[in-house]
Amino acid sequence: MEFRIAVLPGDGIGPEVIGEAVKVLDEVGERFGHRFDVQSGPIGGHAIDRYGTALPDETLEACYNVDAVLFGAAGGPKWDVSDAEERPEQGILKIRREFGLFANIRPAKSHPALYAASSLKPEYLEGVDLIVLRELIGGLYFSKPKKRWSTKTGKRRGMDTLKYSEEEIARVVRVGFELARSWRGKLVSTDKFNVMESSRLWREVATEVGEEYPDVELEHILADNLAMQLLRNPAQFDVIVANNIFGDLLSDEAAMLTGSLGMLPSASLAEAPGAAGSGKQLFGLYEPVHGSAPDIAGQGIANPVGAIYSTSMMLRYSLGLSEEADAVERAVEGVLAEGYCTPDLARGGGEVVGTRQMGDLITGSL
Ligand code: IPM
Ligand code: MG
Repeated sequence: MEFRIAVLPGDGIGPEVIGEAVKVLDEVGERFGHRFDVQSGPIGGHAIDRYGTALPDETLEACYNVDAVLFGAAGGPKWDVSDAEERPEQGILKIRREFGLFANIRPAKSHPALYAASSLKPEYLEGVDLIVLRELIGGLYFSKPKKRWSTKTGKRRGMDTLKYSEEEIARVVRVGFELARSWRGKLVSTDKFNVMESSRLWREVATEVGEEYPDVELEHILADNLAMQLLRNPAQFDVIVANNIFGDLLSDEAAMLTGSLGMLPSASLAEAPGAAGSGKQLFGLYEPVHGSAPDIAGQGIANPVGAIYSTSMMLRYSLGLSEEADAVERAVEGVLAEGYCTPDLARGGGEVVGTRQMGDLITGSL
């Protein structure tokens, strides 16, 4: 089959890890007889330097003409100026919003070969296999007013707003129930019900939507408590649904259960994915969770697994290729089981390899 994909490597380690992801994709094409027509485009800090905007029109247009978008990372110290008009991150935030990609799926699965790389003891990591489902286009990131100003006496003020409508809550919570239903039947919804109005609405709506899913067990856990539970007993969790900011924080935390932030992939969708193997195809944006990591950019040592796992999520959700997605995931797991790792995972010993070599090993075991 033939598919069109927009590849947006972005800044920092983005181009390095996306290079490996595309290599894996090409190999999948060879092995399974598909054609992936890849179009790339500028985004992020580099795009600001060249075009004066983090999301040039041509990049956005490319996204409209494809089945899925694979994105690397955006940002870096060069563009970290607090009063900058345009920030690199705006590029990716605009794409998420433009396409209504409200459901951000971030799976975190522990792997025995990487237990030693995690900051938690191995006995806590056994059986960890969870999803942080993050609301991606509302809440604290996007609600208005959002501004900076100075008072008459010259004192600076800054403001963000956390606002949700019941529709916004219901649609993401519903995706949570769908994911939980097709899996182990447990959904945790997180909020700060005890302090925040938007959270009280969140809990109310989650409970109402839950009535449509009597087969799924719904539990509400306060976000601060959940942050603690994720370290105390992470294996108890299956699907966790959270608002934009809580999901951002909790998914970075969950990443450490896998050994490294470099391991985590993500899929951003505008509706619930079909059941595995249903072949349903949805437009989606796929990105590793790690970000641009400017401290290690250009050194060839970044972990490409988050980007490669993002590619397997793309194969599964947007291209309807679940057999191919399984093959990629098996290849990654096989290479890790053999003891290969990138420096971010090296605490546990094993043979340390660079970004390219890791990509080659995975490609070679497909
Ligand atoms: C993420 C990142 C982004 C976010 C940044 C880079 C805008 O941290 O995808 O988790 O905050 O959403
Ligand atoms: Mg984040």
